[in-house]
Amino acid sequence: MSHVKVADGIYSVGVLNPSLRVFDIVMSTAYGTTYNSYLVKGSEKTAIIEASHIDYFEYYLENIKEVADIMDIDYVIMNHNEPDHSGSIGKLISLNPNIEVIATPAGAMYLKNILNHDSPKIRVVKEGDSIDLGGGKVLKFISAPFLHWPDTMFTWLEQDGVLFSCDFLGAHYCEPQMKDTLCDKIDKYEDAFLGYYNAIFGPFKPYVLDGLEKIKDLDIKYACTSHGPILSKGCKLEENIEKYKLWSTKIKNEKASIPIFYCSAYGNTQKLAKAIAEGIKKVLPSADIETFDIIENDMGLLGEKLNNSDAFLIGSPTLNKDAVPPVWQLLAHIDAINIHKKKAAIFGSCGWSGESFKNLNGRLSNLKVDVFESPFKITLVASEKDLLDAFEYGKSFGEYFLA
Ligand code: FEO
Repeated sequence: MSHVKVADGIYSVGVLNPSLRVFDIVMSTAYGTTYNSYLVKGSEKTAIIEASHIDYFEYYLENIKEVADIMDIDYVIMNHNEPDHSGSIGKLISLNPNIEVIATPAGAMYLKNILNHDSPKIRVVKEGDSIDLGGGKVLKFISAPFLHWPDTMFTWLEQDGVLFSCDFLGAHYCEPQMKDTLCDKIDKYEDAFLGYYNAIFGPFKPYVLDGLEKIKDLDIKYACTSHGPILSKGCKLEENIEKYKLWSTKIKNEKASIPIFYCSAYGNTQKLAKAIAEGIKKVLPSADIETFDIIENDMGLLGEKLNNSDAFLIGSPTLNKDAVPPVWQLLAHIDAINIHKKKAAIFGSCGWSGESFKNLNGRLSNLKVDVFESPFKITLVASEKDLLDAFEYGKSFGEYFLA
């Protein structure tokens, strides 16, 4: 790939990775990704905004060299320091030790751990600080914590109406044109944009709204994100900002939503789930109480149901001294940032020892979930009495939910 001109003196010099299918271990990237980096030339100084993944440094350097001599780079501005962007800083500095790295106070701290040596020049900037590159190109910094790292900031270039927005408004989507106006497969891009929002910004919704508030009065012509195409005014920019606003605004469930998730090898934990559901319905007749067999449903959708719920229950047998793997897989989808104090309960039928209950309780308690008294447990086959007890347990949980 070669560089792409954004506006006069502004170039996209990042790297394409069209074949990437998994990002950061957990995120599927059906459309690949790009590690975006931008080079801005003023009349006096030159800055790079965001660096690139270290594995593709060779290509990255080639792109930079197309528009500037590496020895002419004065600043590398790190809008945040996740290694897909900060990974190559060390190599840039080794080629040009005069480069000054610009970061927020938290970013400066992370950089020391990323570079692991003392020599780089790091300048710490705060909200409202700026750097003048000359010729009207003034880069102003806007603090944007938790979008999505604690050290995140945006960089605003007023002269050209360019917001370098870090991962905010980005997408794991790869087309060499690098511009929304030239995007070939817009439906696939939109799919990637939603997936990226859910995975990266879904846990930080209040911060997304704060970030949008901070940029609402800027006359943005281009949002140069750190992944995927550059967004342009009149194309995807306004639409995507509206989507972020919509997706981040909390909608209260009309009816209390209390999903019950379970795995069941011989149908006993399933019977408990149904009986507990009936018990909850007795206390909360208008609530939305649904039971879900975890292995028969899409894990992503179940994760969404769990995260959007008002309370939830988890049922598992015990296998190999633990809850079964699909149950852990579902819990891996928990939005750990926003789950605090949500009410939950644990139940299941086990063979003899029942370690699943203790382990699930430990996991949920560590996430600061408000776990209901003792788990409801039976041994092996659910008797009539067990099911009546499960019904009563459901009623108690319903009352606990209302308390
Ligand atoms: Fe693309 Fe948060 O790194």
